[in-house]
Amino acid sequence: MSTTLADVSRLADEFPVLRREFDGRSLVYLDSAATSQTPQPVIDAMTRYYTESRASIHRGVYPLAVEATDLYEGARARIAGWLGSSVEETIFTANATAAINLVAYTWGRSNVGQGDLVVLTEMEHHSNIVPWQLVCQDRGAEIAYVPILPDGSLDLEALDALLAREPKLLALAHVSNVLGTINPVASIARRAREAGAVVLLDGSQAVPQLAVDLRELDVDFYAWTGHKAYGPTGIGVLHGRRELLEAMPPFIGGGHMIRTVAAADSTWTDLPWKFEAGTSQIAEAIGLGAAVDWMEAVGSERIRAHEETLVAELLSRLDGFPGLSVYGPESAAERGALVSFSLEGVHPHDVGEILGRESVCVRAGHHCAQPLMRRLGVSATTRASFAVHNSVGDVERLLEGLEQVRRVMRLD
Ligand SMILES: Cc1ncc(COP(=O)(O)O)c(C=O)c1O
Repeated sequence: MSTTLADVSRLADEFPVLRREFDGRSLVYLDSAATSQTPQPVIDAMTRYYTESRASIHRGVYPLAVEATDLYEGARARIAGWLGSSVEETIFTANATAAINLVAYTWGRSNVGQGDLVVLTEMEHHSNIVPWQLVCQDRGAEIAYVPILPDGSLDLEALDALLAREPKLLALAHVSNVLGTINPVASIARRAREAGAVVLLDGSQAVPQLAVDLRELDVDFYAWTGHKAYGPTGIGVLHGRRELLEAMPPFIGGGHMIRTVAAADSTWTDLPWKFEAGTSQIAEAIGLGAAVDWMEAVGSERIRAHEETLVAELLSRLDGFPGLSVYGPESAAERGALVSFSLEGVHPHDVGEILGRESVCVRAGHHCAQPLMRRLGVSATTRASFAVHNSVGDVERLLEGLEQVRRVMRLD
């Protein structure tokens, strides 16, 4: 079922920030790939925790603490169930970056050694590059990058050549935050596992945009971030294969993650808490649980269908726009909910700033993907990204804004 325009205007009403105006112009928010806006039920769930249920979790035996613990663990259970994971394999972290670092510092430092190979791709976010550089520099291991092809897809022949070298790890984005490419991750993961590699997917852009089923993907680690998925900031999730998580040493040590502490050493508690040292992001986890409930109620398939329609509309409107080049796959069916582009003769920051004056919010910059920028031969791009609250009217406002950029920059 696709989402009708009427459905969408009702959904937009659930986002308080979308009622704002700047200089009398209503807000057109096209930067959800950077951070999504928050629907009211998520704000309400967090407010309820602070106003009615606030207590520390897992320790207090009084009813308020039990209630807070149930809210936190209930959120974990719903998130795990929604994505086809289990509670033991669903670890709360601060964001996707922290989730990937957790794997790099624990699994990576135990399993990547001198002369080993770690394979990344040219379209990775810095969060899925720098942690591996730190591990590989520390261990004397090598990093190789799967190149991208001119259409924004991964060069799968080059991937196979790298897999033939039996890498320890393949870490890649499920959906590129710059090109929008939806990588064929299930088949890539199968090939990588046959080659003996552990597979980590960065699902930061995928979870809010696609129907993700971790049982189907069958990867070893899947990292994502709450603030791009209608949830609060300060919360992310790492899903990991139980055998690997059990074998991994803890990441951060302290309270909450121990079973026993003696003067000289300690033992660790069960999964997932072994990786959740210190007082947890309680309100944030509860908020993320509410965000998942919200996305589930809207329906991942409907979110995807609606955003694909908007991307198709934008691609067709940009086709033939003077001096404008779009990066990434040609068809909306092969992309997530975002379009990056350059306008000849105008720096992306100027495009972003002029659009901003029209109250149209887009991202301009390197998108934390400098190796990819280098590959594309640019220092930055402008990126418009959609969420389910966007409408064809928002595409219209973006196009009007781009006409304004042409006028201001005297491009005729
Ligand atoms: C593909 C991708 N991976 C990782 C991240 C990092 O997310 P966070 O900063 O929430 O850890 C982002 C955010 O821009 C992203 O788009």
